[in-house]
Parts: sequence; C-alpha cells; structure tokens
Amino acid sequence: MSDLIRIVYISRATFETAPAANGVEPNVARILSTSRTNNRRNGLVGMLYYGDGCFFQCVEGDRLKVQSLYKTLLKDPRHRELKMVASESIKRLSFPDWSMKYVPIDGHMKRLLEEHGFATFDPYRFDHHLVERVMQLMQGVADPTAPDIEARASAPARNIDCDEKAITARRCPTGSGIAKWALAISVLALILSVITLVYVMTLS
Ligand SMILES: Cc1cc2nc3c(=O)[nH]c(=O)nc-3n(C[C@H](O)[C@H](O)[C@H](O)COP(=O)(O)O)c2cc1C
Repeated sequence: MSDLIRIVYISRATFETAPAANGVEPNVARILSTSRTNNRRNGLVGMLYYGDGCFFQCVEGDRLKVQSLYKTLLKDPRHRELKMVASESIKRLSFPDWSMKYVPIDGHMKRLLEEHGFATFDPYRFDHHLVERVMQLMQGVADPTAPDIEARASAPARNIDCDEKAITARRCPTGSGIAKWALAISVLALILSVITLVYVMTLS
C-alpha cells in the first residue's frame, strides 16, 4: 500500500499580474500546464488558487513524490516565501480526477474572506480554520480551465455528505433512484389492495 500525504502551502508570486487570457493569468496558465503534465505522470493531484499576488496550493500523492515536488517548488523563481500550512498522511486521494484543479477568484471566495474580515486574499494571515474553509470552498468550485473529466470532477457539490462518500465509493445515490423505489412500493401496495378487494367480494 502506498504512503500518501497531502500538503497545503502558500507563496507570493514574484511576477506582476498580467491581464487574464481565457480567464487565467498567463503565468499561472503556464504553471498549470506544466503541473498537469507532470502530476499526471507522477500520480499527483491537487488544487491551485491564485489571488492578489498569492498562491494557495494543495498537493496529494505518494509521500516521496510530493516531498520531491516541494523541493522543486522551493527553487522555482516565480514565487517566494513558501510556507507550509498543512501536511498530513491520508488514506486515499480526495480528488483523484484533478491533476491540478485551477480555482478562479469568485464571489464565494470574496464572501468567505469578507466574513473573516479580509479585504484581499492574504493567506499569511489565515488561521487553521480559515485554511480549512478555503480548502472546502476550492473543492466545490468549478474549474473553468479544465476540459472534460476535470470539469466534471469540479462541478459544484450538491450535497457534502453524499460527495464525501462518492469520493471513496465513486457513486452517489440520486433523487431519481429514491423516486423509483417509492413508485415500486406504491405499485405493490396497489396490487395488494386490489387482490384483497377481489377476495372480499368473492367471499360476500
Ligand atoms: C505556484 C506554483 C505551483 C506549481 N505547481 C506544480 C505542480 O503541482 N506540479 C509540478 O510538476 N510543477 C509545479 N510547478 C512548477 C515547478 O516549480 C517546476 O517548474 C516544474 O515542476 C518543472 O517541470 P519541468 O522540469 O517539466 O519543466 C509549480 C510552480 C509554481 C510557481
């Protein structure tokens, strides 16, 4: 069984933010492209947020591979002040379909920051609770840059409990499934009523 870990780190971009092309800052788009190719090869998964000149990234996978990537990241001149905000062993990957999910700046993130008294995305001032909330939010937000499978994987969660189970079981009971059972039970009850009625009428 492989030894899996999750790390979450923050950093500051060293480049000036340029106007977005196709919804993503061009430097970030290049980082995403390399990340997705390499991570797929190395069996790593993760999520990346970029806002107000700061990165917030979560990476999961084999311990040695994640640690090796982090050493590479420390040397990357496109960011500085890397700070690990979480590192833990995990039993399974939380988002196996995302080689590197890109999470855009959106109203949900802005509202979350406002709720905690932040006017900008400043992860260096986040406490443990806010790091967790940001992670949860990142998991539920759709990735506008991801084609097919990654886009499907990043569709907003309808039900958190169900979603957690679906991550491990890869399935999720739907409303239509429950409706089918209810219909079957109703039909059965109707048939039993008719049989009882016919029986009573035959007796009388
Ligand atoms: C914020 C940030 C996040 C990155 N995330 C990843 C990543 O998840 N996976 C990865 O392989 N490279 C990532 N990189 C790029 C690496 O630092 C490094 O440039 C790359 O792994 C080199 O790959 P190459 O040898 O194929 O060019 C990231 C860089 C930055 C600045």
